[in-house]
Amino acid sequence: MSTPSPAAGPPTGPVRVALVGTGNIARFHAEALRSLPEQAEIVAAVDVDTEALSAFRSRFAVPAGYTDLTEMLDRERPELVHVCTPPGLHRSQVEACLGAGASVLVEKPPALSLAEAEKMAAAEGGERGPWMATVFQHRFGSGARRVRALAEAGVLGRPLVAACHTTWFRPQEYFDVPWRGRWETEGGGPTMGHGIHQMDLLLSLLGEWTEVSAVARRQARDIETEDVSLARVDFAGGAVASVVNSLVSPQEESRIRIDFERATVELVHLYGYGDDNWRITPAPGYEDEVTAAWEGGEWGTDSGHRAQVSQVLAALRGGTAPPVTSAESLRTMRLVAGVYASAFQGRPVTPADLGPESPFHTRMDGGGVRW
Ligand SMILES: NC(=O)c1ccc[n+]([C@@H]2O[C@H](COP(=O)([O-])OP(=O)(O)OC[C@H]3O[C@@H](n4cnc5c(N)ncnc54)[C@H](O)[C@@H]3O)[C@@H](O)[C@H]2O)c1
Repeated sequence: MSTPSPAAGPPTGPVRVALVGTGNIARFHAEALRSLPEQAEIVAAVDVDTEALSAFRSRFAVPAGYTDLTEMLDRERPELVHVCTPPGLHRSQVEACLGAGASVLVEKPPALSLAEAEKMAAAEGGERGPWMATVFQHRFGSGARRVRALAEAGVLGRPLVAACHTTWFRPQEYFDVPWRGRWETEGGGPTMGHGIHQMDLLLSLLGEWTEVSAVARRQARDIETEDVSLARVDFAGGAVASVVNSLVSPQEESRIRIDFERATVELVHLYGYGDDNWRITPAPGYEDEVTAAWEGGEWGTDSGHRAQVSQVLAALRGGTAPPVTSAESLRTMRLVAGVYASAFQGRPVTPADLGPESPFHTRMDGGGVRW
């Protein structure tokens, strides 16, 4: 039997999926794929750690295992590869997959720098793919989709002020994993590695950012990167937001709050949300209109890998670029780079300041931070 060619157009049956990296997060990918048998089949997994690979293959009944990505791509010709390795490997692995004609769903952060992310986007195949999508699973719960729909329909009025806080706790031992806490391998601290999820969600709700003014600190952990950052972000739509990213907060929480003219929308959760994590408070005079639109919106989908993976598979089967697209993930990466550039240069930064001439284009630390 001949193996289908990924270049042959949209998949006609279940998408042939491979995973590279079988560590912590790969489990969420495999569970999501297994729960969507009509949309996807897992054909292979790749890991340099043969024990991790073998345990993963047994647990998820993966038919083929490889220690080399290129060999897997040659032999299996997957249509989609989920890249679940540490961030320092993403660029070369994503480019290898795209070069072999396979679309990619890469874990966040998609790359270590804007320069890398732009090169990866340039390796996509254009209108017919293959494409690169990034995992930002918080966009895909029904709560976020409902807020976006109401905002787009004009029910909420203009966004005015917002808060986006990712205040988590990671003890020093968390950084014993060799790639964590280092600019070279993780690309940054909680701004790049943790708060990026909520910053992406905020951008998906508020649109283009225009200026950021930030500070970054090492408050408590013995690591190369920051363990705390705080930023003020302006948006083209007129809103201003406070963004806090922390790994030193014993009472852990992920919080987004947006005050629109006609309602406050709030999300409080930790690593993922359901409908119950969202609350809306209409402004006086708008109770009936806002409540009716809220109750009539989309409900029933938790945020998480399954919600995003099902959208990725549907897009591929429909022959369109899967979400979150390279352009959208670049916008989020640009805000991360803007936070670091502003914090380490001590001045406000706009997206236009982050072009190839900026040292923060090639490295999130701008080539060296003296704390
Ligand atoms: N979306 C989320 O909520 C979320 C949560 C946690 C982690 N992540 C991201 O997922 C990625 C992986 O994180 P993790 O916690 O699963 O890491 P991990 O260290 O648990 O797993 C990484 C795996 O990659 C394997 N690997 C290393 N080099 C390889 C190579 N050259 N080829 C093939 N496999 C290789 C390792 O052996 C390991 O099994 C990171 O980018 C991280 O930021 C995302």
